[in-house]
Amino acid sequence: MIETPVLAANWKMYKGPSETRSFLDSFLRAYPARADRTVVFFPPSISLQTFLESTIDRPDIQAGVQDVHEAEEGAHTGAVSAAMARQAGARWGLAGHSERRSEFGDDDETVSAKLARLLEARLQPILCVGETLSERRSGRLESVLRRQVEGALEGLGDETAWEEIVVAYEPVWAIGTGETATPEDAAQAHALIRGILAACTPSGAQATILYGGSVKPGNIATLLAAEGVDGVLVGGASLDPESFASICLAGAPH
Ligand code: PGA
Repeated sequence: MIETPVLAANWKMYKGPSETRSFLDSFLRAYPARADRTVVFFPPSISLQTFLESTIDRPDIQAGVQDVHEAEEGAHTGAVSAAMARQAGARWGLAGHSERRSEFGDDDETVSAKLARLLEARLQPILCVGETLSERRSGRLESVLRRQVEGALEGLGDETAWEEIVVAYEPVWAIGTGETATPEDAAQAHALIRGILAACTPSGAQATILYGGSVKPGNIATLLAAEGVDGVLVGGASLDPESFASICLAGAPH
């Protein structure tokens, strides 16, 4: 379990190396290092090196990759392996983001294999799960979360350090739509996920669970205050240095 709130930025397919450098110029000034939170960025892989060079004096800022291939290595044009990401300086990795699931066909089995590769490479994984609007409307919230969480954990070996897995609850209907889950919605889904994890593994109840989906400076405080919300995964609002700095500073004493 991660002791401090996690504020994570998923840049998706935005920001090449030069935009990464200029973002960090502003962001690092707006967000001085704080010991009471964990800040992680997921830049595009091609910008990771620049990201790490630009944050060399800020060990409080961590970085990861948005995706890895499910194989250890091989003839997979365009793909990046978990071990390579680790070698390049990544410390975290996402698995199962809804855009990977819907655009690239990552199913639960693939997500599980990716999670295994991330753990083998000693990258801190964030497993992303979440329901679509029609799944929610038809009362399938719990069954979808169960399938995604159990499906992802199924292939992992007994030696897995379960307490190290971070889950991000990202309702698909709230991603990039401006529509945010209410703190009550988030608390309910987080409790369901915690229950599912607890049934899988003794330390599951202590897992770190993040919320993602249209998190902004204006709603961060209420989301972080919701029961069982241990941090956030931010897309759109993480692209602007001032806006993400204000998210990272939420609740910090002035
Ligand atoms: P959003 O994206 O903040 O733009 O909704 C969140 C995510 O996809 O991780």
